[in-house]
Amino acid sequence: MPPISRRSVLRAGLAAAGSALLLAGCRDGSTRDAFSTVGTLDFANPLRVPPLAPPHRAADGATVFELATAEGSTQFLPDKSTPTWGFNGSYLGPTLRAARGEKVRIAVVNRLPETTSVHWHGMHLPAAMDGGPHQPVAPGQTWTPEWTLDQPAATLWYHPHPHGATEQQVNRGLAGMFLVEDPDGSPAGLPRAYGRDDIPVIVQDRNFAEDGSFAAGPRALTGLTGNTVLVNGTWNPHLAVSTEAVRLRLLNASSARTYNFGFDDDRTFAVVASDGGLLASPVSARRVLLSPGERAEVVVRFAPGERAELRSFPQELGMTTALDNGAGGNDQLSVLQFRAAARLAPSAQLPAALSRLGAPDLAKIAASRSFVLNGRHINGRQMDHNRIDTVVGAGTTEIWTVSNTHNQPHNFHIHDVRFRILDVDGAAPPPELAGLKDTVFLPVRTTARLAVPFGRYADAATPYMYHCHLLWHEDEGMMGQFTVVPPGRAGGVPAAGTAHGH
Ligand code: C2O
Ligand code: CU
Ligand code: CU
Repeated sequence: MPPISRRSVLRAGLAAAGSALLLAGCRDGSTRDAFSTVGTLDFANPLRVPPLAPPHRAADGATVFELATAEGSTQFLPDKSTPTWGFNGSYLGPTLRAARGEKVRIAVVNRLPETTSVHWHGMHLPAAMDGGPHQPVAPGQTWTPEWTLDQPAATLWYHPHPHGATEQQVNRGLAGMFLVEDPDGSPAGLPRAYGRDDIPVIVQDRNFAEDGSFAAGPRALTGLTGNTVLVNGTWNPHLAVSTEAVRLRLLNASSARTYNFGFDDDRTFAVVASDGGLLASPVSARRVLLSPGERAEVVVRFAPGERAELRSFPQELGMTTALDNGAGGNDQLSVLQFRAAARLAPSAQLPAALSRLGAPDLAKIAASRSFVLNGRHINGRQMDHNRIDTVVGAGTTEIWTVSNTHNQPHNFHIHDVRFRILDVDGAAPPPELAGLKDTVFLPVRTTARLAVPFGRYADAATPYMYHCHLLWHEDEGMMGQFTVVPPGRAGGVPAAGTAHGH
């Protein structure tokens, strides 16, 4: 890892404050130097915590939420306002929270001048409710999906998914968290007071132009990488801590940047959940690596009166040093400062067992398939709305071997499911990746084997997606479609009227 120079520290700090002069110096993302924002922030801004969306009870017992997209403007930097998009507000959206067994119905109202869609990332639901490219919501329209929550407690999220425009819409601010609770799977001892000791941490990187607007560059081969970190839409943030332990629900909602999270003093914390739910037991760690779309829940303990800082540390992206630098792999970023009160309310110790997650069930494997990621292709093909790439049987389990044979990093996300990583390049996954996942990071020339249990909602005419979650790669067509059909039945073609070119 190259040393972080004082000059690059200063440059990052000034660029973060919107200096046009210095921003102009790093337009070419692929050759930008690594930089550090450590020491450049005073963490003056209280972390914004997205409000919990108020649920309404419908006559049929469903829990109803409304999400309205709209244009607005948001102040991130001192004295600048940034044109942004948001749900029910100017940037990001409220946190939706509902429990397993609950029927939810969501009115998605599109008040933007362009077509969008809202995908429930990590959610098990019928394909027609999934909110991918086959469920577009035109300007002025309302789309009202409904389903019954049927999966373990987890930190999920929602974001637009219109093919070819996902990166741009997410980057303008369209994203939010969706917390699934599970009354039968909620061990005592885990912090759970939202906004107090259970905190959403939505991490995004951005570049700002002189006038305060988001800048589209510099771009790396992985997509947009920013020099300025926002947490829940807060620049330069701190969180006031009032309890001994805090649960952080980390979400990498960035376009292309992978974060290697840890603390300034290298303290250990407990990883308690991955994308799709709680691990079997807490895993003690000093770092947790999240590629775009991935989540981890961690529980951190604080001492009275202390300050501590969540950072992102350099990591190996596996390209040349210049390309790694451009993609942010060698950056060192201040993310969020914690300011513990002089007296902290006591927090319980974590339970030894968090869930009944056993070994993946490999007794009956219906099929094995392989997916090769290279360039902007999966198995040599790019996204085609009118082609179903893969047909799977409802309720069956398959082994998917996903290989990144490219000299650039990618990841692989599958809609609707929670898979288990069996091995990465032949070795068992580290314990924090051994639980329920929906997105797996695939560094340069890496192969992961996944056990994928498919859901029971069959619909031969409406596909789910699998894709690289580096949003620009996804927009470029690094995406395929699968349908779930009754076992043994042949697949169909997308129903007439649901296909949209771009
Ligand atoms: Cu988070 Cu297909 O997406
Ligand atoms: Cu998804
Ligand atoms: Cu990719």
